[in-house]
Amino acid sequence: MDDRNIILLGFMGTGKSAVGRVLAQRMERPFIDLDEEIERRVGLPILDIFRTQGEASFRRCESDVAADIAARRGCVVSTGGGVVLDPANIEILGRGGVLICLTATVPTLLARLADDEQRPLLPSGDRGAAAERLLRERMPLYEALPCRIDTDGLDPQEVATEALRIFQVA
Ligand code: S3P
Repeated sequence: MDDRNIILLGFMGTGKSAVGRVLAQRMERPFIDLDEEIERRVGLPILDIFRTQGEASFRRCESDVAADIAARRGCVVSTGGGVVLDPANIEILGRGGVLICLTATVPTLLARLADDEQRPLLPSGDRGAAAERLLRERMPLYEALPCRIDTDGLDPQEVATEALRIFQVA
């Protein structure tokens, strides 16, 4: 059996967690949300980790958890949008897994995140400007990933179908 992990990456609001849950259910595989693992390990919500320990501490924990997840097989994994910032994360996650990047336009991202107050890097206020700046900075990192799905106008079921197709031919 094909025990490679499926690793979903992409900017905040691209639907990684929602798609990951659908995919895991369809494939009858365990689902791991990297952010939830970090919260469990630290014992705090992401927002509080950023507030009390700072982003650098969050990133260290993110890399530790990514390495632990990469050692598992047969899982569907959704990552946080910033996991691409450290190339070592991508290298280790890609070793035993198929990396699939979800993309969306800024208006779509903002619409999906409209009621969400849990993103420390997108505080309410000038969210549009913050999202555009961050996305511009990270674009080369997302574009370097081997497979991408444009999720604009698609629901999680449709994105999961496309992810499954990519997994099967990758
Ligand atoms: C982050 C994205 C978040 C979470 C943290 C940092 C980022 O995950 O890891 O707030 O740097 O883009 P989601 O992409 O699931 O929102």
